[in-house]
Amino acid sequence: MTHPTEVPEPGPRDAETTHMAAAGDTDVVGIAPDPALAEGILADGPAADIFDAGTEQRAQEIIARYPVARSALLPMLHLVQSVQGYVSQEGIAFCARRLDLSDAEVSAVATFYTMYKRRPCGEHLVSVCTNTLCAALGGDEIYRKLQTHLGSAEKPLGHEETAGTPGEPGSITLEHAECLAACDLGPVLQVNYEYFDNQTPEKAVALVDALQAGKKPGPTRGAPLSDFKGAELQLAGFFPEDEATYRADVDGPSQAVETLRGAQLAADRGWTAPGAQDVPLPELEKK
Ligand code: FES
Repeated sequence: MTHPTEVPEPGPRDAETTHMAAAGDTDVVGIAPDPALAEGILADGPAADIFDAGTEQRAQEIIARYPVARSALLPMLHLVQSVQGYVSQEGIAFCARRLDLSDAEVSAVATFYTMYKRRPCGEHLVSVCTNTLCAALGGDEIYRKLQTHLGSAEKPLGHEETAGTPGEPGSITLEHAECLAACDLGPVLQVNYEYFDNQTPEKAVALVDALQAGKKPGPTRGAPLSDFKGAELQLAGFFPEDEATYRADVDGPSQAVETLRGAQLAADRGWTAPGAQDVPLPELEKK
């Protein structure tokens, strides 16, 4: 029996029960475990061959939105991903030169946010929520199922690994994600950041099978499905020129009945929030 004051040592079985242990996960700052990939990432490639005049034009449009060029870094990184499907070393240099930043400053941002991928992404990015509520409702089971379905029982697909050749039609990058802000509809997953609510392992398998077959099933809500690069272009702030397509993207239903149930109950019962109290602000400590 453990004495109440003793802190138990974490045992190996603790690790076995986490999704981190389900397959070879990748450290988000582990930029390129594959030596060939590392070579490609570290090479100072010809950015002009990768980022054409159209991309350059878009970069200038992004920069013009901000009073200070460096403020444009986040959409610029999305623009890079819309071209390459990840943030390469060339992409880092492309942003740095145009925003008057160092490569190190751009790298620091690109490796901090999980939406910036340091390895080439599949045609589709499938993000399974394995945060607390979704995990308890079956998110861990869905993630494990997709790991073996997209990989194999012997070699399950790891976090941010791709089934198929990255960028090729039908290729899918799998990742586990923190709370996707849809706990009322859990367990959820996203494809290219569009929601698929109330998932089960069977539904998730049918979804990735359809994606691999070149289909684009409709998300539960939100914009129609495109692909990872297309989603990245929208995150950079560029939408379809066709008005009907644009409207479908921005005006798609974004909330569900469950999302509004609390507000609806309050409205039906005449409940209102108490008024704000006139609470004095604490005195600032004098130095
Ligand atoms: S825990 Fe999954 S959406 Fe919040």
